[in-house]
Amino acid sequence: MADANRIALVTGANKGIGLEIARQLGQAGIFVIIGARDPARARSAVEDLSSQGLAAQSVRLDLNDHASLSAAAETIRAEHGKLDILVNNAGIVDAEDGPPTRSSPEAARRILDTNFVGTLAVTQAMLPLLRQAPAARIVNLSSSLGSLTLNGDPASPYYSARLIGYNASKAALNMLTVQLAEELRETPIVVNSVSPGYVKTDLTGHHGFLTAEEGARLPVKYALLGEDAVTGRFVEASGETPW
Ligand SMILES: NC(=O)c1ccc[n+]([C@@H]2O[C@H](COP(=O)([O-])OP(=O)(O)OC[C@H]3O[C@@H](n4cnc5c(N)ncnc54)[C@H](OP(=O)(O)O)[C@@H]3O)[C@@H](O)[C@H]2O)c1
Repeated sequence: MADANRIALVTGANKGIGLEIARQLGQAGIFVIIGARDPARARSAVEDLSSQGLAAQSVRLDLNDHASLSAAAETIRAEHGKLDILVNNAGIVDAEDGPPTRSSPEAARRILDTNFVGTLAVTQAMLPLLRQAPAARIVNLSSSLGSLTLNGDPASPYYSARLIGYNASKAALNMLTVQLAEELRETPIVVNSVSPGYVKTDLTGHHGFLTAEEGARLPVKYALLGEDAVTGRFVEASGETPW
């Protein structure tokens, strides 16, 4: 449904899955705000979308600089007064992450700071604007690697991917999804964790089964959920992912 009045913020939208989520939301008629920590990269993403006739702007937003989050919220409030969709896409891996016996604890801290604490902070900063929208949707870009069940299942393809910092950050993000969905249950706001699949981006060293465009499809579907939307779920393309 095209709706020029609906506003979406996608964090980390200057490249990878985030840029394609922004593009697909724009193609659905949503006004897209590119959240990016680097102004030059943000500008080039906006130019990319604008060249396709899509309505977009950028806002500076660094998950590790909490002052930038309140400034971004203030910009969106002043220009739009509300936010209909928040896609928490920004995230990192770290070369010093690894199995629990060897991972650098500092790497784990860096990953948790960005993927979990930063996402919590951005969500809190945007919540007043999300409450101003008729039925806001929050999509958290999680990963099947954040599934506690699959990490302990030798039959799972994710079993051997032991990145304690990254996997824990996505498990923590899933906790945010569950708790926030419950806290907001009496409101029209829904919150879901979406695993995009294994996607060829900088984050995976361009290994993966899916293009960024393909990886964006499920997050976009959950960003555009209509009435009677589910909340507090953890999903991947094949269905529900075990927590
Ligand atoms: N690719 C996969 O297979 C896969 C699978 C499951 C889940 N995911 C998740 O999907 C999301 C997108 O991943 P991707 O593969 O598209 O990765 P990517 O190409 O590396 O893009 C990550 C984006 O996050 C931004 N970012 C990183 N740290 C940030 C910070 N502190 N503040 C603001 N922005 C920040 C990056 O900005 P810069 O350009 O400035 O660095 C970039 O725009 C991540 O949350 C990832 O964990 C990916």
